[in-house]
Amino acid sequence: MRPMKFAIKTLGCKVNQYEAQVLRENLSRFGYEESAPGEADLFVVNSCTVTAQADVKTRRLIKKIKKDNPHVKIFVTGCAAVFDEDVEKLRSMEEVYEVVRNSDKTKLPLLVDSTRGVSHGEEELTEEVSGFSSHTRAFLKVQDGCDQKCSYCKVNLVRGPSRSRDEKEILSEVKRLAAGGFREIVLTGICLGSWKGDSGRDLSALLCEINGIEEDFRIRLSSIEPNHVDSRLIDEVASLDKVCNHLHIPLQSGSDIVLEKMKRRYNTAQFQDMVTRLREKIPLIGLTMDIICGFPGETEEDFYMTLETVRRINPSRLHVFKYSDRKGTGSFLMKDKVPSSVAKDRVSLLIKLGYDLQRKFCESFVDKQVEVLIEDESDTLRGYTGEYVHARMESAAQKGLLIQAKVKSVDKDELCLVVGMC
Ligand code: 5AD
Repeated sequence: MRPMKFAIKTLGCKVNQYEAQVLRENLSRFGYEESAPGEADLFVVNSCTVTAQADVKTRRLIKKIKKDNPHVKIFVTGCAAVFDEDVEKLRSMEEVYEVVRNSDKTKLPLLVDSTRGVSHGEEELTEEVSGFSSHTRAFLKVQDGCDQKCSYCKVNLVRGPSRSRDEKEILSEVKRLAAGGFREIVLTGICLGSWKGDSGRDLSALLCEINGIEEDFRIRLSSIEPNHVDSRLIDEVASLDKVCNHLHIPLQSGSDIVLEKMKRRYNTAQFQDMVTRLREKIPLIGLTMDIICGFPGETEEDFYMTLETVRRINPSRLHVFKYSDRKGTGSFLMKDKVPSSVAKDRVSLLIKLGYDLQRKFCESFVDKQVEVLIEDESDTLRGYTGEYVHARMESAAQKGLLIQAKVKSVDKDELCLVVGMC
């Protein structure tokens, strides 16, 4: 019998990318073969539902996959496959063969089997990864779910309460990935900073253990909540040699009034204080941040406060989101919704400010030495520095390697460093 061919497309966050890799490995283990999208017999769409835009992208992707490959069986899973209403909507699409709830995601290969009369056992499934196809960075999920319940957030609703993975399991996975040649391992979680191990061990303790693993790799933390960036974590990021000088800390708004309505657990002064303490220890740390524009009740004044706060905090890069009303969240019920056109204008202004800050941050590296993970081998070599600055390499280098490079100039159009070998 010809092996069934599969393809996977993942939308959204790094946790979802990690889970896609688990799926990929389980499908391969069961004898399925990964193929180009157009040749696949079955296609897994691993969806995201953080914003309405993410839902639109999921549906568009499903339609496109079926149009390009009419015989393919499309299985949809991910965060858009949790609430009954969302599941029904996906099921009603004629392009969709089956919707697999996110909680059953790991079992998806068994379901695929059953549609063909084959049966593998549940005990044959793994929940770990051993590699990362077509990536030079590896994502490692250490935690799932979130207890913070921010009022705009659908993710905590679909992912449920915070659960941590076992420390030993995490460490052996890091060892396997590092020994497999991955030079950057990104620790990911839905609420990464809430990771807890045995006897109250926290993320800082975990970082120390991972840093002690004797392989040549660097560690990056994915998004971490401001209230989890404590003095201990700051010290560890500053002192552990493998940990990248980069943190992604969502600010969400620069207005204390809005932060309170968002049910965030800090105010702008506390955020600023945390950033000051970080920069005291790591002056050139890359600090990337998410901001939401157009949260219900956000006034012109609130928005100008956000612009002011962002200028003062001076992040190295911004991810700007237009507020999206998600059913089931606290803010869905709030009055004073901001008109879409107003929110859009605010998004544009912040994106523009973000570019200015990003350019300035790039300029602070000229003539300095940086460490670049070479990621793209096509026409130009590209990659990211430890501080998460995009870099273009002028000399020859090999994909997947960590390279010490000297920054020659800044490409202001591409907002990237132009680097050469040291
Ligand atoms: N509307 C807009 N942006 C959102 N995010 C989360 N929920 C929403 C929403 N309802 C953004 C936040 C978060 C990022 C992953 O997505 O900025 O940090």
